[in-house]
Amino acid sequence: MPCQSSDELRQLVEEAKRCTKEGKVADYIPELGKANPNALSIAINYPDGRCISAGDIDKKFTLQSISKVISLALVLMEHGFRYVFERVGMEPTGDPFNSIAKLETMAPAKPLNPMINAGALVVTHMIKGGSVEERFNRLLGFIRELAGAPAIGYSEKVARSEFESANLNRALCYFLKQHKIITEDVETLLDLYTRQCAVEMNCLDLARIGMIFAMDGVDPLNGKRILPDDVARICKTFMVTCGMYNASGEFAIKIGIPAKSGVSGGIMGAVPGKFGIGIFGPALDEKGNSVAGLKLLELLSRKYQLSMF
Ligand code: DON
Repeated sequence: MPCQSSDELRQLVEEAKRCTKEGKVADYIPELGKANPNALSIAINYPDGRCISAGDIDKKFTLQSISKVISLALVLMEHGFRYVFERVGMEPTGDPFNSIAKLETMAPAKPLNPMINAGALVVTHMIKGGSVEERFNRLLGFIRELAGAPAIGYSEKVARSEFESANLNRALCYFLKQHKIITEDVETLLDLYTRQCAVEMNCLDLARIGMIFAMDGVDPLNGKRILPDDVARICKTFMVTCGMYNASGEFAIKIGIPAKSGVSGGIMGAVPGKFGIGIFGPALDEKGNSVAGLKLLELLSRKYQLSMF
C-alpha cells in the first residue's frame, strides 16, 4: 500500500521546521556533517498497513542510536533477561549519551542502561556469531524483518567515518574491557558497532519498526510474532526512561510516548497499541536529539493527545 501524503502532517512539519535553525548537524562523525540541516520528514505507520507522511520520505539516513533498541531486543531474545541485565543496568543516567563518568564512579563498572553508548557497546558485544559478518548479518536480518523491507543495508561510508573517529567509544570499550564487562578485541567490537549504527533506511521503514514495537512485537497484518511481548515491553520502557538520554524526563512530560533518537537526526516513536512513527530531521539540539523532530512530536502529541500519562 503506498504511503499517502497528509496535509495535516505537512502543516505540522512546516511549523516544526522553523526550529531547525536552532540546531546543528552532528559532525563528530564527519560523514553525518554533510546532512541538510533544514530537512524534516515524518511517516506514520498504522497496524492495518496504512501509512501517512509529509516531507522527503524517500531520503535515507543511518539509524545511529536508534539501532540500540533493536540490538537490545536481539540480545534479549538470544540470551534471556538475566544474562543481559547482569551486564547492563536499567537506570537512566542524567548524563550525555557518550559520558564515561558513571563507569568510573559506580562499582561494578557496569553501564547504567543499554541506550547510552557504554551500555550499547556491551549489548553489541553480546550479539552471537563467529565473525563480525555473521553477527552483523544476524542483526541486519532482524532489522529487515522488523521493517518488512528485505533491501535494507548499511552505509559503508558512515560506518568507516565513525570507525576512524570513534576515540571516545574506544575509550569506553577499553574501560569496559579492563573491568571484564567486555572480553573481545576492541577494534572488532567497534567494527560491528559502527556498522550497526550505519544501518540505513527511510522514515517509512522506521515507522514500520515503531509500529511493530507499538503492537507488542506482532505484525498485525499476518499475525506473525517477530519478537516476544516481554522484549517489546522492555524496549519501550527503556525508550521512555532513557530514549532521549538526559532529556528523557522533559520528553516524557511534554510528549509522553516511547521514542528513541539518533545523532543522524532520526527518531523512532511507538505509540502503544496505535501506530509507529519515523522522523528524520538532522539538526540536533545540544543533547544530540533532533530539534525539529522533538518539536514535531510535541505538536503531534498535543494535537492527537498521544501521551501515555
Ligand atoms: O556511538 C555514537 O556516538 C553514535 N554512533 C551514536 C550516538 C547517537 O546516535 C546518540 N543519539 N542521539
